[in-house]
Amino acid sequence: MTAVNCYGSINANEFEHYRARLTMTIRAIVETSKQHLIDQLLHASLKLLTVVVWLSTLLFGLYILAFYVSSYTVDPESWNQSLAGLYVHGGTLANNSIGLHFFAGGVILILGCIQLLPLVRKRAPGVHRMSGRVYLLSCLVAAIGGLLFIAIRGTVGGLVMDIGFALYGALMFICSVQTYRYARRREFANHRAWALRLFALAIGSWLYRMEYGLWFMTTDAIGHQQDFSGWFDKIMAFFFYVPNLLLVEFILRSKRSRQSAKLKGLLTISFFAAASLVMIGTWAFWDLFWAKPILNFFRLS
Ligand code: HEM
Repeated sequence: MTAVNCYGSINANEFEHYRARLTMTIRAIVETSKQHLIDQLLHASLKLLTVVVWLSTLLFGLYILAFYVSSYTVDPESWNQSLAGLYVHGGTLANNSIGLHFFAGGVILILGCIQLLPLVRKRAPGVHRMSGRVYLLSCLVAAIGGLLFIAIRGTVGGLVMDIGFALYGALMFICSVQTYRYARRREFANHRAWALRLFALAIGSWLYRMEYGLWFMTTDAIGHQQDFSGWFDKIMAFFFYVPNLLLVEFILRSKRSRQSAKLKGLLTISFFAAASLVMIGTWAFWDLFWAKPILNFFRLS
């Protein structure tokens, strides 16, 4: 059998051959466009989540400086409005440890965004190095201050919370030291991996408040007790940093292997959902706690 086209005639085998090649080409184009779209959506969702997290942590950092740090020398007793037992008359070492820890915590949250910005790393490596040193020093101070406070006074929630927070402090200490060591050795892949782990830990303190806030909004505080001895409080003593660390490990490993389209789709939906939750949480915290001290501090109200 022969088929006829505008260039002349071809036999059935040749026709089949060209038809198959055309179908394959069209399939490849459709598949590539689909992959491209999936990649773009994943990229956009991750970007949105990053921006929302940066903005929210920045506001929380400013709140810590405006509320806790600015009352450090004037009225440290006001800390207890936020959490009982943070300031105790005569408990100088524990008071100063937690006070320094607040200062360092605020600095960490404000600098965290700058440290991970690729633009700063590429265009202004000097700024990255300088602010990196301040960031790492602040992480060490926040960890040591928190650990001293736990050793002297203990957390409000007792043993489980003591263990959860002490492990958090120890991990933050280790990640800070490793990040610095690998930067000094100029082993940048390892430096980046430890810096990401440190960032995941550093935003844990912010995530702790967000997770509590969203839990309270949606469940009317089931599992929470005033003295943090409820089942939800016990889970939360670890939940604000363990999943973040696992996520970083997943990201570090999955970069090396190709992700399936299904996994990418799942990640995209999770990132968009997480960004929406962070936006809702940030708005609630801004309205209830952060706005007043921050606006007063900058004399904007
Ligand atoms: C970016 C890092 C950190 C920030 C921004 C931060 C922030 C804060 C803030 C604002 C509070 C006041 C309590 C409240 O408002 O709920 C607090 C309390 C506390 N933080 Fe941190 N923190 C950080 C890291 C750490 C680390 C690494 C440890 C672990 C050693 C730690 C241990 C504690 C402890 C034990 C308390 C007192 C809780 C209690 O009395 O039960 N923090 N932190």
